[in-house]
Amino acid sequence: MSCCWCDVLLYAFVAFIVVQLIRLIFADADLSLLWKEKFGKKADSLKGQVVWITGCSSGIGEYLAYELAKAGCRLILSARRIEELERVKKQCLIYGPISDEDILVAPLDVADVSSHEGAVEAVINHFGQVDVLVNNAGRSQRAMICDTSIEVDREMIDINVVGQISLTKTVLPHMRKRKSGHIVVTSSLAGKMGVPFSATYCLTKFALHGWFDSLRIESCSDDIKVTMICPGPVFSDITKHCFTGQKGQLLNQAMKSNEKRVTTQRCAELMAAGIANQVEEVWIALQPVLLLAYLTQYFPSIMKWLACRLGVKTLMKVREGRN
Ligand SMILES: NC(=O)c1ccc[n+]([C@@H]2O[C@H](COP(=O)([O-])OP(=O)(O)OC[C@H]3O[C@@H](n4cnc5c(N)ncnc54)[C@H](OP(=O)(O)O)[C@@H]3O)[C@@H](O)[C@H]2O)c1
Repeated sequence: MSCCWCDVLLYAFVAFIVVQLIRLIFADADLSLLWKEKFGKKADSLKGQVVWITGCSSGIGEYLAYELAKAGCRLILSARRIEELERVKKQCLIYGPISDEDILVAPLDVADVSSHEGAVEAVINHFGQVDVLVNNAGRSQRAMICDTSIEVDREMIDINVVGQISLTKTVLPHMRKRKSGHIVVTSSLAGKMGVPFSATYCLTKFALHGWFDSLRIESCSDDIKVTMICPGPVFSDITKHCFTGQKGQLLNQAMKSNEKRVTTQRCAELMAAGIANQVEEVWIALQPVLLLAYLTQYFPSIMKWLACRLGVKTLMKVREGRN
C-alpha cells in the first residue's frame, strides 16, 4: 500500500518537472513571475501610488511609465533630456486615467549626486511622498577588459551604481518616516552572470545586487521592499548610447528589428507585474538567455564550464540577441 503512494508521489513529481520544463521552453520571464502575472496582483493595484522612474526618456523606463500611467499611478519622470520627458508625459496623459498635476517632469542626472537632495525636495513638495522609486537609469558598455580604460570603468560606476545608491539614500529617510516604501532597481541578467565584452557593465550590475540585497534586509523592520529587475536582451536605445573602451567614445549602434530580444512593451508589462507583487527578483528574457540564467543560479559549476566551452564569440552573439 505504502509503495502505491510512493509511486503516485513519484509520478506526480515527474509530471511536475515535465510541466515546468515545458513552461520554461516558452517562457519570457522566470516561472514564478509568470505565475504572479497570471494569478497575482494586477498593475492597477498600484493605482494612486506615487512612482518615481529614473531613465524614462526612452526604452524600458519610457514604456514602464506608460504601463504605470495606464494603472493610474502618479508619476515623477526623470532623465537628462527634458524634451523627451515632456514627450513621454504627453503620452502618459493619453494612456492613463490621470491629469496634468499627477505627472511631474523632474530632469535629473543620476551621476550628479550633489543635485539629488534638491530633486527629492522638489518631489516631496509636489506629491508629499514617494511610494515607489524605480532606479532604472543606466548605460551599457562594450569592449574587452584589456581595451577598457579605468576612466570608462569609473564613469560607468558613477552612473550605474553611485547614482542609484545616492538617490535611494536620499529618498529612504522619507520612506522610513512613513514606514512604507518600495525600491525597484533595473539591474540585468549581466548582474547575475559574467558576460564577455561587457565586464564593466557586469561589474556595475553585480554591485547593485550586493548593495540592494543588503538594503532589503536592513529595511525589513521599516516595511520597505526591494525588487531587483534583471532583464536579458530587450529592445531599447541602450546600444546607441553604449560606452566602448575609451572615454568619450560611443558604440552608436541601433538595434536591428530581427534581433532576438523581448519587446520594450512586454518588458514593461512584466516589470509592472513584479512591482505590483513586490517580487524580490525577476528575470525577463527569451531563450536561450533565460535557460542560461537558470543554469547560473542552480548549476553554477556547469554554467562556468559551459561558458568557457561556448567561448567569447558565441556568448556575445547570445547577449546581442543575434541568431
Ligand atoms: N535594453 C536591454 O537589453 C537591457 C538589458 C538589461 C538591463 N537593462 C537596463 O535597463 C535600464 C534602461 O535601459 P534601456 O535599455 O531602456 O536603455 P535606453 O533606452 O538607453 O534608456 C536609458 C535611460 O537612462 C537614462 N540615463 C542615462 N544616463 C543617465 C544619467 N546620467 N542620468 C539620468 N538618466 C540617465 C537615459 O536618459 P537621458 O539620456 O535622457 O538621460 C534613458 O532614459 C538600464 O539600467 C539598463 O542597464 C537594459
